[in-house]
Amino acid sequence: MDPPPSSTTSSSTTTSQQQLFALQPGFTNLNHGSFGTVPLEILALQASFSRIAEGKPDAWFRTDYFEHVDGARKSVATLVNADVGDVVLLENASSAINGILRSAVNWQRGDKVLLLSTAYRMCVEVLDWLVNTAGIELVVVEVKFPYSQTELLQSVEGALASLHDAQPRVALFSHISSMPTLIEPVEELACLVKQHNQDCVVIIDGAHVPGAHHLDLGSHSSHLFDFYTGNLHKWCFTPKGCAFLWTRPGSRGFQRAGKEGGVQPLVISSRAEYSYTERFAYTGTRDYTAWACIPASIEWVKRNFECFEIMSARNHALIVAASRRVAALWGTSLLVPEASNIAVMADVVVPPLAQNEAQLKLIQQRMDLEYNIFFVYGKTNSSNSAVWFVRLSAQVYLELVQFETFASLFLDLLSSTQPPPPSSS
Ligand SMILES: Cc1ncc(COP(=O)(O)O)c(C=O)c1O
Repeated sequence: MDPPPSSTTSSSTTTSQQQLFALQPGFTNLNHGSFGTVPLEILALQASFSRIAEGKPDAWFRTDYFEHVDGARKSVATLVNADVGDVVLLENASSAINGILRSAVNWQRGDKVLLLSTAYRMCVEVLDWLVNTAGIELVVVEVKFPYSQTELLQSVEGALASLHDAQPRVALFSHISSMPTLIEPVEELACLVKQHNQDCVVIIDGAHVPGAHHLDLGSHSSHLFDFYTGNLHKWCFTPKGCAFLWTRPGSRGFQRAGKEGGVQPLVISSRAEYSYTERFAYTGTRDYTAWACIPASIEWVKRNFECFEIMSARNHALIVAASRRVAALWGTSLLVPEASNIAVMADVVVPPLAQNEAQLKLIQQRMDLEYNIFFVYGKTNSSNSAVWFVRLSAQVYLELVQFETFASLFLDLLSSTQPPPPSSS
């Protein structure tokens, strides 16, 4: 495996790899994690699928498209080592989580759902809606920072033990959380909840995982998951609108979609009379060209970077080196100190003078407008600390020098940016 490129190899803001992507020349994207980006070659392929679909709509929607969706499901199943019959496609992880929580469980008032304080906002919103409409109850275990895996597992065990016989019916965990970002020990967490209630339905939100971190749904360690969803448009270079949902065969906690119930797609279409996988394959007339590009996006990675493991290992090495370098330049620290708990994104605490939102917002705007660099920031919500941090993403089109440039420009902007005075109301 190649080491991450050294900081002396280039001072240009557009690397040679970046030219493979639709990103603007000269733009430094330190936030791949939010929306991903797509190779030019794949964008061109998608345009050619659009021409085919529009050229003969009936042929596309009645026949050709279904061959593409089956091919895409096979590519995804191979990528995550799953049986193709267990994999369906969706537009995004939000659709998957909504579909599961809104259809797979026949909620009873007082049912409990266990989640961590790092759960993605969308998941919390759906659960809050179920609290209000179905009377479910949430058990939220706090993740503290700096992060320690041992401490987290102890907190979850403590929370479950304190519930005695009223154990959660569902547990929902992120595999890689968003803000703050960390690899959560999902196998161990699933094991804990199933030790307390073997019928607990375990849902894993792996939105950030495919292409960023090892995923083997056929392995022994995954056998306690009931649902797993992952996005492909973040780290697998597909066009926007590509995600998958894996369901465990023979799960005790739910059924697959059928006329009588079971997990459904958000939209039940005219083709719902067919099988579980077809219910998901067609959800009404819309643009399905992104899904048709999935096999090509996966092949594109193999052609350019040999395989996903090599690419994600390179990105992991880069983000560990880069986040440590930024923290050293700022005299701060990482929210997740151990490299083994970091995938391809990392959070660096910002310097004391930048510890307020108004200041960070101004720096973010000036960094974008004046230097064409984009980054995101957030704040920890744990009770032991409330600190502002930046979340940085590594990707093949980035080099260490760009993170160093960002870190020193951040300090320059900090010394020259005055946040507006707090309002006196
Ligand atoms: C952990 C996590 N889950 C779910 C999502 C939602 O993904 P999407 O917007 O593609 O549905 C995100 C998006 O960033 C995420 O970070």
